Amino acid sequence: MIVKNVRLLMAAAAIATVMFQLKSESSVSAQPPTPPTRILPGGAFGETIRLGETLVEQTATHPLTKPHVGNALNCTSCHLKNGTDPKAATFIGVATAYPAWSPRERRVITLEDRVLNCFMRSCNGIRPPLGSKPSVAITAYITWLSDGQVLRMNAENPKGPNAVPRLAVKPESASIERGGLLYSNKCATCHGKDGDGEDDHPPVWGSRSFNQGAGLADTVKLASWLKVAMPLDETDLSDQDSLDIAAFVNTHDRPAFDLKNHLPDESRLGEYNAEQTR
Ligand code: HEC
Ligand code: HEC
Repeated sequence: MIVKNVRLLMAAAAIATVMFQLKSESSVSAQPPTPPTRILPGGAFGETIRLGETLVEQTATHPLTKPHVGNALNCTSCHLKNGTDPKAATFIGVATAYPAWSPRERRVITLEDRVLNCFMRSCNGIRPPLGSKPSVAITAYITWLSDGQVLRMNAENPKGPNAVPRLAVKPESASIERGGLLYSNKCATCHGKDGDGEDDHPPVWGSRSFNQGAGLADTVKLASWLKVAMPLDETDLSDQDSLDIAAFVNTHDRPAFDLKNHLPDESRLGEYNAEQTR
């Protein structure tokens, strides 16, 4: 008797489990894949993603990334709100485009490569080793921001689906003089008359700024970014304003870029970053 009842109970429990699974599976598949849910996974995986976000925010000062940064900039200085501002060089969706063809490197690069390139150029620093803690954490964070989105590898450019649109302006039609006036009115309060910024307002030219190899050192790229990102409190620049200001900003000196000065020692270019437990 007792045995029979236990069997019945177990059968009922099994049916209930199957029904529960069916129910939860159908409710999961009914959810649209986008927008990303952004639920942080638990444990060490979630901690790595969270570390990546911290490093994006405190790149120039955090002990893990400071040795790899040669200026006053953090990733969030240009990828606003830690890369979550949908317009200003957002990280959302970026991971869906990689591996991608890179005309500059003349090879297919991974998202991790792309992250490390910004260290060498925009942050004027030394490339962290592939597989190193900061490299993996930042790449994990950026990938997490693309979770649930459709993969669309980019055969032309290392660029995600929400990259800043390039303004249809010609650099030769820029007025540096007008750009200088606009800079004094709209930018100098935060970035300083002499472009060196202060406190939370990063420098926009000079020795503590991005180098000549950075995307923003290209006047049209800078204009395109300014149009969607600055002034920080109110983005109200016309295409011509953005171009003129960008041309003015880029007439000033900034660090030169020579690739060999930004690579780590050859033995440190890549590294096996796992603890050997078995
Ligand atoms: C001085 C501004 C600046 C800083 C600082 C900067 N970036 Fe960038 N980053 C850019 C710009 C501009 C682009 C787009 C480049 C282009 O269009 O050529 C870009 C592109 C990228 C991309 C590719 C985006 C895509 O759509 O595929 C990644 C990934 C990236 N940056 C990561 C980082 C990380 C990580 C850091 C910090 C270590 C960083 N960046 C610091 C300006 C910056
Ligand atoms: C209200 C203050 C404010 C104003 C006005 C402002 N910015 Fe910024 N700007 C910032 C801050 C703050 C950041 C960094 C973003 C962050 O850390 O969240 C930034 C980032 C930048 C960057 C990328 C990082 C760097 O330093 O290279 C550039 C370039 C830039 N601003 C140019 C300009 C220009 C040009 C104007 C005028 C059209 C302007 N900004 C107006 C506050 C301001």
